[in-house]
Amino acid sequence: MQRKTRIAPSILSADFARLGEEITAIDAAGADYIHVDVMDGHFVPAITIGPAVVKAIRSFSTKIFDVHLMISPVDSYIAAFADAGSDIITIHAEATPHFHRTIQLIRSLGKKAGISLSPGTPVEMLDNVMDMVDLILVMSVNPGFGGQKFIVSQLEKIRKIRQMIDHSGRDIDLQVDGGINIETAKQAVAAGADVLVAGTATFTGGPSQYETNIRNLRGG
Ligand code: DX5
Ligand code: ZN
Repeated sequence: MQRKTRIAPSILSADFARLGEEITAIDAAGADYIHVDVMDGHFVPAITIGPAVVKAIRSFSTKIFDVHLMISPVDSYIAAFADAGSDIITIHAEATPHFHRTIQLIRSLGKKAGISLSPGTPVEMLDNVMDMVDLILVMSVNPGFGGQKFIVSQLEKIRKIRQMIDHSGRDIDLQVDGGINIETAKQAVAAGADVLVAGTATFTGGPSQYETNIRNLRGG
């Protein structure tokens, strides 16, 4: 069942010199999840933040910490991100040959598990993990950078996954990440997404705009 649209600002577009204050501000502005993009310079070109930073910013919001790991290898870092205070840990199906095992590991630590598909990855990758995941993340850009253009072909993928989730009868978030703005947010929600990740569109204009930006993404 598609739920009310939730907004997950990606702190990748925040002011890193004031990260704690930025998280307090997006929390107050109505963010539902705090989306943390972890990049390793190997699975994706950029390097961003690690578990120590997640731990340091954790106390600035009581909202759900939604940690998106774009790293390979991944298994050896799961415990550190769990300990740092992640609520949901999302891994990439392409980043590890044994993603079923990695999902088991995340669940064994008492955390919610997410699986992400990059734009070129088919939905069939999800077939054998539908009974284990709490979140499916459709990347609507190739992972690695904020501020890219939404890849329209991913709407069809969202539609297919919406059917798979509804058929499963499980409570699974359908999240979309990359190039989300007011227009693409509407398209993604119409296709079946219920959690929208937005970096640029949340943080544009500075703290005085965050509330308006989040409200607009939610559809007013
Ligand atoms: C891309 C990241 C996204 C990205 C979103 O690899 O996973 O979360 O930062 O940024 P915008 O909303 O600017 O496309
Ligand atoms: Zn992300």
